[in-house]
Amino acid sequence: MPSTIAIVGTGYVGLTTGVGLAHLGHTVICADVDADKINELRAGRIPIREAGLPELLSDALADQRLSFVLGSEHAVAEADIVFLCLPTPQATNGEPEMGYVLAAAETIGPLLRPGTIVVNKSTVPIGASQMVATALGRADVSVVSNPEFLREGTAVSDFLNPQRIIVGGDDPIANQRVADLYQAFTCPVLMTDAASAEACKYASNAFLAMKLSFVNTMAAICESYGADIDAVTAGMGHDARIGPDFLQPGPGWGGSCFPKDTQALISLANQQGIDFALLRAAVDANQQQFDRVTDKVGSVVDLAGATVAVLGLTFKAGTDDTRDSPALEIVKRLTARGATVRAHDPALTTAPNGIELHDDVFAAAQGCDAVVIATEWPEYAKLDLSRLAEVVNQRHLIDTRNLLAYSDAEQHGFTYQNIGRS
Ligand code: UDX
Repeated sequence: MPSTIAIVGTGYVGLTTGVGLAHLGHTVICADVDADKINELRAGRIPIREAGLPELLSDALADQRLSFVLGSEHAVAEADIVFLCLPTPQATNGEPEMGYVLAAAETIGPLLRPGTIVVNKSTVPIGASQMVATALGRADVSVVSNPEFLREGTAVSDFLNPQRIIVGGDDPIANQRVADLYQAFTCPVLMTDAASAEACKYASNAFLAMKLSFVNTMAAICESYGADIDAVTAGMGHDARIGPDFLQPGPGWGGSCFPKDTQALISLANQQGIDFALLRAAVDANQQQFDRVTDKVGSVVDLAGATVAVLGLTFKAGTDDTRDSPALEIVKRLTARGATVRAHDPALTTAPNGIELHDDVFAAAQGCDAVVIATEWPEYAKLDLSRLAEVVNQRHLIDTRNLLAYSDAEQHGFTYQNIGRS
């Protein structure tokens, strides 16, 4: 049964959720505080790079199932269900900031119709639903946790093909009404309490980050013994308890979620006197991976005074997001050791932190003493190495995404380093 839904916050979670729910046949009103963003969205233009989102947005606008308003106070009056999709940035002590979420709850609380359900979609601390209920100041509305599991770059596909829907709250009727929004999907729907739903989101992200830190450290061990990480992960992945996914070694993990969520979970555990040493070690291992990549560059050139091309600044391919990108961590370490960095990224026209950005790979590599592939953009897997060999000053390749083959690199006179392959 279609519902009238309000989405508060149109970032990549709010926008994807709003457009996705409209695609499922619901009537959706999205609110944001940014007037320019609202005007762009009303015109069908999207400020983020998400495959498939422009098409879904234009369909929903055409079918008049989706509208955009400035200010949450104008979105909730008619809503049966209100999704809070607001930023929960990391506070200095590692905890997620609830300021935006609670401010929105205080704003909309008096405006909600009795029986409205407020849904926490953002990644919020364990126990946040109770905080939201208090901020709403209403006994006749329910709060439900419905965490998102959207990956940047594949958010639309992840929304339309969920592996599980998790609904957590103490009101079974409200839980069921939220679950019913997704009845078009066939995946398992897990009903639980709010704290468990909130904890599951952190546990999932933290476990994935730990899995990556494990494989990146295994890659270093493989290098030291002349073993091959691809053979090791292939062998691991056939064990159904491990699974083949998320075993691709790289420069380390980043993005707007893993770094924030791992620190949040460590902090949430600390608050209860529990030291999540395993997760702290995974975070430390990730920092070590950035160091290892930097050392690989330093092993072939004297970084002081060297010029290094870094191909890829986004935290992964398919997105234009550089927040907490491993590439930026590597650039920071290279420049700290005296190198000059020139970068390229197909998704960017400007670079953060004043990094020199070129719109052509070979312009970025011109005169460089080493070339680092930091993001797995498909074009880097098809790099014209003969042309690259002509423009660089020294032929050193550090492929942190294992896109190229040893033989190709060596055939063109490059020294070639990668992550864990013999
Ligand atoms: C993550 C979770 O996957 C998603 O479920 C959650 O909702 C939000 O956080 P996202 O941050 O968009 O999604 O990126 P993800 O695709 O998980 O990648 C995170 C980091 O791990 C990236 O830096 C990526 O390059 C790295 N990664 C991922 C690897 O190094 N190897 C892999 O095999 C997979």
